[in-house]
Formats: sequence, structure tokens, C-alpha cells
Amino acid sequence: MNPPGVAGAETRKHGGEPLTVAQPFLIQQQWDAYTGEQHAVWAELVRRRMPQLREHAAEEYLNGFEQIGLREDTIPNLADVNRRLGPRTGWNATPVSGFLPPDAFFEMLGARQFPTTTYIRSREAMEYTPEPDIFHDVFGHVPMHAHPVFADFLQHYGRVSAALMHDKDKLEKMGRLFWFTVEFGVILQKGKVKLYGSGLISSHGEGTHVIEGKPEIRDFNLDQVLEQRFLVSEEQKVLYAVESFDQIYEAAQEAEKRLG
Ligand SMILES: [Fe+2]
Repeated sequence: MNPPGVAGAETRKHGGEPLTVAQPFLIQQQWDAYTGEQHAVWAELVRRRMPQLREHAAEEYLNGFEQIGLREDTIPNLADVNRRLGPRTGWNATPVSGFLPPDAFFEMLGARQFPTTTYIRSREAMEYTPEPDIFHDVFGHVPMHAHPVFADFLQHYGRVSAALMHDKDKLEKMGRLFWFTVEFGVILQKGKVKLYGSGLISSHGEGTHVIEGKPEIRDFNLDQVLEQRFLVSEEQKVLYAVESFDQIYEAAQEAEKRLG
């Protein structure tokens, strides 16, 4: 645990500028308002995923889960998460009201603030929720933000994308880079395919689909990724495996050169 104030100081140092476009979407997390039933839904979701993830998730994800203090039994209090995460990489999980328009989303990534919903799915939608929720956003995404290279990659991704807002085609290509890394990324570790993308981490069905060897796993290749179409509504047929997170950091730099 760090002394009070350290996280805030670090966050300002890294995050810098205040948000403008994203400002109307910022909310407070009312942690005390979560019901016992909502905490129980979180606990059930985490307990369902962890046995598979202990074996098949990237070690960086599992380390991040511990480092930011996520727990199996209660919905995370984002203030507590940020007190641990901020001093590590300058990232924050910042509560927002729901889906963000692209300019607001990229602005937040560029400022190392990850837009995080506070709502949790109902028991009737345990496997899939069309709306983003705190399980996908925090359990799925935020542990990777404790990894310094991934942290730098994601901020740079946001800045490059924000600069391409005027060009729909280029933005679509950047969307594919996000999809095949942040959302559905896999990494080769000790000869095995390990999960790190939030869509694979947070969905039992999607994670199992990969572990069972269903999608074609290709070596990560930026040219292919930028052209690779995908369907949000279907299980993935093709995924791209990196060998280290340096590769996605370099990919964001290279995408900036090519598209910027
Ligand atoms: Fe996501």
C-alpha cells in the first residue's frame, strides 16, 4: 500500500492535461451502492474465469491482477485500484457513464485514463452483455495496464488514433489494431498460446474457443492486422500472436508512421 497522495502525484506527472471532450462522460463510482447480489455476480464471474486463466492467461495479466489488488469476492473500488495502479504506470481506471464516442475514448487513452463503466451485468447475462460493464472493463482490461510496455503502447495508440479522427479509413485500420491486441490479443509464452486480450480474458466462451484451438493463430503482422476484417458478433476465426509486448508497442509506432 502506498501513502495517500502518491497515486495522485504520479497520475498528474504522467497524465498531464485535463480532459475536455471526455469531460461530460465522467461520473463517480458509487461503490457503497452496490448490492450483495451485485457483488455475488462479480464473485461468480471471477471464480468461473480464474481456473482457466491461471493456466492460460499471459503471466503479465496474472501479475497485474495481483498488483492492482483485484479480489474474487467484491466488485473493485476504483479508487483502491488507482492507488495501486497509478504509481506503477500512471494509468487510472476512470469511471464513465457508458459507451464513449471515439474522440472522447482516444482522448482518455492519450491521458492514461481508461474509461471504465461501473454497472455490472445481471445474473441473466452472465456470459454475454452487449453493453460494456465493470467486469469486462476492470477484470478484462485493467490488469494489463500495470505492465509498463503495454501501458506505453495503449497511451500511444490513443494519441495516434486521436490524430486520425478526420480519416474514417485510417481510423478503421487503427480499430483493427485495437481489436487484435487489446481486445483479442494472444502471446506465445514457453511455446504456448496465452491470452491477454480483454475479450478473451473476460468471456468464458471466447477464452475456451481459443484454448480448444479453434481460431487460426498467425504470427503478428501489422500489414495483415490493419487489413483483417472481423465480426464483433461471432467467435473469432483468426488471431495474431505476439512473442513479446514490445511488438505491439512497435506496431503502434509503425502504424503512426504509415497512417499519420
Ligand atoms: Fe474492451
